Amino acid sequence: MKGGNSYSFKGVHLSLALVALFLFTTLLWLWEKNPMVITLQSAQDWYYLPSEVPIDSIKAINLTKSKAKSSPIIETGPKVKIDIVKVDSPKRQYNAEVRSSRSEVCNFAKGRWIANKRRPLYSGFGCKQWLSPMWSCRLTRRPDFSFEGYHWQPENCDVPEFDPSGFFRKMQDKTIAFIGDSLGRQQFQSLMCMVTGGYESPEVENVGWEYGLVKARGAIRPDGWAYRFPQTNTTILYYWSASLCDLEPLSTTDPLTNVSMHLDRPPAFMRKFLHRFDVLVLNTGHHWNMGKLNANRWKMHVDGKPNEDKHLLDLGNAKNFTVYNVVRWLDSQLVSHPRLKVFFRTLSPRHFVNGDWNSGGSCDSTVPLRRGSEVVQEGSSDPTVEGALSGTKIKILDITAISQLREEAHMSRYTDRGVSNSSDCLHWCLPGIPDAWNELLVAQI
Ligand SMILES: *[C@@H]1O[C@H](CO)[C@@H](O)[C@H](O)[C@H]1NC(C)=O
Ligand SMILES: *[C@@H]1O[C@H](CO)[C@@H](O)[C@H](O)[C@H]1NC(C)=O
Ligand SMILES: *[C@@H]1O[C@H](CO)[C@@H](O)[C@H](O)[C@H]1NC(C)=O
Ligand SMILES: *[C@@H]1O[C@H](CO)[C@@H](O)[C@H](O)[C@H]1NC(C)=O
Ligand SMILES: *[C@@H]1O[C@H](CO)[C@@H](O)[C@H](O)[C@H]1NC(C)=O
Repeated sequence: MKGGNSYSFKGVHLSLALVALFLFTTLLWLWEKNPMVITLQSAQDWYYLPSEVPIDSIKAINLTKSKAKSSPIIETGPKVKIDIVKVDSPKRQYNAEVRSSRSEVCNFAKGRWIANKRRPLYSGFGCKQWLSPMWSCRLTRRPDFSFEGYHWQPENCDVPEFDPSGFFRKMQDKTIAFIGDSLGRQQFQSLMCMVTGGYESPEVENVGWEYGLVKARGAIRPDGWAYRFPQTNTTILYYWSASLCDLEPLSTTDPLTNVSMHLDRPPAFMRKFLHRFDVLVLNTGHHWNMGKLNANRWKMHVDGKPNEDKHLLDLGNAKNFTVYNVVRWLDSQLVSHPRLKVFFRTLSPRHFVNGDWNSGGSCDSTVPLRRGSEVVQEGSSDPTVEGALSGTKIKILDITAISQLREEAHMSRYTDRGVSNSSDCLHWCLPGIPDAWNELLVAQI
């Protein structure tokens, strides 16, 4: 009798296990299918979706391909297999020695672009939930997409193949914050697409309200966005701070009021929420010109008073002063925020030729890596950020020289719904170059 009982008990266990396995498989299958459902939703209310795009072309993308779990074969011209997790080659040992004598950190910015059939990491058609249509070149009339098929391979660092589950494992119960200009916002959108594979993710919660990131009356958009992935309690957020200065409107009612721009005071948002961040990624750069300052009515202040230092009237000096200030402040905060890792992303390069953004400048090349595929220099091409970080615990995310090689990957003429003849040689097509920045970032957290 006893034996019989125990057998049927086992039987129940076995069938429960089978049912669970079946459910799990079905869920997996549904999850893989889900992305094929293409709907316009959510955050896109703020943006204009170009209506000229034939709706058929939106369905044309093959979402099954990028998800394929094939072996990690990386292509460089003629097929070359590279084992990217190999750690014990003589070259690596040599470099480990060189490194320990110079610094503990590997130089992720030295290496090369390699053609890779497993890029892009998500679809420019599929990632509608997170990607602004204005940056999704697949939604424009752009015909060439060869720029999507590369990844950055640092020469001597271990960079595991990007894997969303690895990201979520690292970021369990953690928050990653991007603070910076629109290029920072591109990096944020890129990361959202990378970790979801570009697939619809209805489970993700909008938690902007926790950070006061709500659209003000009359505003085009909120100052930022925050999203939480409930499975691992991971939050990814972006806050717009183009100058990394604290901004203080002189009037709270007048929409055309002048704004005090405190060069020596980090943004209030950063000071207020720093204790909630585990990873912070900063950037600034393209707003340090008179055009942007005037357009925003920003008035430089130092020590709480209008700036009188002639040296800082040169905006290059003002930027340098601000970057040094924010870095010094954050470095001083690390003692009381031991779990925080701060990265400063270097300047994202522009590629206007024959003029600037407002004078007919363009970037029409469609040939990837026309200027070469390798970065061999040791130092950064962004001396301001490199100089400010030196001697601090803030890490550099050095993408300047890397991105300099990718002139063909900007929005180019496929901007402003294709009706303007001015080019955007500042922002990048997504998927694209900011994905590579994030791969390097994730490898370092
Ligand atoms: C998508 O890819 C799969 C497998 O690679 C292939 O069988 C299918 O024909 C492709 N569909 C389109 C629309 O290209
Ligand atoms: C989520 O993570 C935060 C830390 O980032 C923690 O304070 C909170 O308790 C976590 N929530 C849950 C439900 O585990
Ligand atoms: C803003 O500052 C400028 C000088 O920089 C001044 O001429 C103007 O009157 C100010 N506007 C307001 C609304 O205070
Ligand atoms: C930036 O400011 C720092 C600190 O004041 C100074 O040492 C450095 O030379 C400046 N760099 C540039 C490029 O002006
Ligand atoms: C576009 O360029 C043409 C000539 O190349 C010029 O006549 C026209 O004004 C331009 N349009 C805009 C919107 O700048």
